[in-house]
Amino acid sequence: PAKLNEAISPLDWLLGNWESVEPGEGSFPSLKPFRYTEALHFTQVGQPIINFMFNASDVETKKPLHRECGFIRMQTGTNRVAFIVAQNSGLVEVEEGELVGMKLSLHTHALARTSFAKEPHVKEVSRVFQLQPDGKLEQTVSMSTDKQPMTQHLHITYSRLP
Ligand code: HEM
Repeated sequence: PAKLNEAISPLDWLLGNWESVEPGEGSFPSLKPFRYTEALHFTQVGQPIINFMFNASDVETKKPLHRECGFIRMQTGTNRVAFIVAQNSGLVEVEEGELVGMKLSLHTHALARTSFAKEPHVKEVSRVFQLQPDGKLEQTVSMSTDKQPMTQHLHITYSRLP
């Protein structure tokens, strides 16, 4: 692997491959609660950037569901983080936030979607990645739509693959 760029060393704990230990929990006021599995891949090629791919699947059928990919950057000399993401649903987002220890908190800074995206439309996303003391990674995602205020949509815990 390429030598880690110092600009992203505060985020080195994310690098590698992760898989949900137990199925993640999906929820939203308008949805029947659901479960899913997800694999995360964070890589680097020596740039001051982390590349990522998130692939979620149906627990039973293993059918591919939600997918996201993008880039993570840090503002030099600060704990400000940008999370630039494209989702297979036709949503693209720039989320921004801050890194405190091994907790990364992000919120929508800019958002766009395809002209024919399914309704309801997402208004804002908030997400937190946190490395737990036992080495597991936790992600919590909340969102608001044009029909619902900010509410939790996803909660999942991953373990690191060798
Ligand atoms: C539904 C957004 C990630 C599974 C929805 C809905 C929205 C949404 C707007 C429709 C809600 C409604 O009808 O009121 C997002 C966003 C995500 C995300 C912004 C990431 C930031 C995921 C992931 C999964 C998932 C990782 C894992 C499988 C579902 C399912 C539904 C749903 C099963 C209900 C069926 C459907 O509408 O397709 N999501 N979602 N979502 N989401 Fe997500």
